[in-house]
Amino acid sequence: MQKKELVLSRTQIEERVKELAEEITEDYKGRSPILIGILKGAFIFLADLARQIKLPVKIDFVRLVSYGEKDYSDGNVRLTKDVELPIKGEDIIVVEDIVDSGYTIAFLLKHLARREPASLKVCALIDKSERREIEVKIDYVGFKASGFLVGYGLDFNEQYRCLPEIYTLD
Ligand code: IMP
Ligand code: MG
Repeated sequence: MQKKELVLSRTQIEERVKELAEEITEDYKGRSPILIGILKGAFIFLADLARQIKLPVKIDFVRLVSYGEKDYSDGNVRLTKDVELPIKGEDIIVVEDIVDSGYTIAFLLKHLARREPASLKVCALIDKSERREIEVKIDYVGFKASGFLVGYGLDFNEQYRCLPEIYTLD
């Protein structure tokens, strides 16, 4: 097992998720946005965020993979599970674990925009902005971070997803 170093504690994550949820609750007052989680990494973040948003949200998921299953995207993103709810005319908030190069989120935004939602925003738990290769707007950012992270839904070769905190791997 590789050495892990704590980056974000349970409390830090919990507090920040609550703040993001409050911001979203305020911004979408009187509306019922659809939260679209990107599988698999965002499943825990989405579950916590959704339960803190005081609005009648709807939930859906997409699954995106990068060819080759490497630790990074190279722009070759592919959709393996699409949204199931109709999104035309709806307020959409894409919920992502990490935005790294930006290719995954850029691909998804383009894909969703074709269906003409009323609005389309992004909420990412972690922004690794230094590594960005394509410009993307992230409307709600939990934390800025760097290094390879695991825990709270994030994996390395399918390991560590269920850790309640976030760690860097050596
Ligand atoms: P991007 O397309 O380079 O922005 O990559 C985003 C995707 O890569 C995320 O949805 C994550 O699943 C994965 N990813 C990027 N950085 C990490 C990390 O540090 N740990 C685990 N997964 C990561
Ligand atoms: Mg992901």
